Amino acid sequence: MNIEKRPLKKHLFICTNTREFKDSCGPKDSLSIIQSIKDRLREEGLWDEYRVTSSGCLGPCARGISAIIFPENLMITEIGPNDTEKLYQLLIT
Ligand code: FES
Repeated sequence: MNIEKRPLKKHLFICTNTREFKDSCGPKDSLSIIQSIKDRLREEGLWDEYRVTSSGCLGPCARGISAIIFPENLMITEIGPNDTEKLYQLLIT
C-alpha cells in the first residue's frame, strides 16, 4: 500500500448510478454535467487543484442528481441541467 497526500483543494463527486426500477441519477444525464465541469477546470488551468469525478450511489436517489463536495462534506441534491455553473462555483470557491 502506498499513501500520498494530494494537492487538491476540493473534490466534487457526482452520482452517475443507474438503477433499473427506481429513481437514479444516471438517466438524468449527470455525466454531461461532469464533462462540462471537467472541461471548464481544464480550460481555466484548475485541474491540479479541483477535481470532478463520477460516483456510484450517494444515497438520496429520489432527490437526484446527487453530488458531494469534499472536504466540506456538502451533499447537494436536486441538481438539474441548469445547475452546472452553480456547482462549478461551489467547487472552486
Ligand atoms: S442513484 Fe444517485 S444518489 Fe442514488
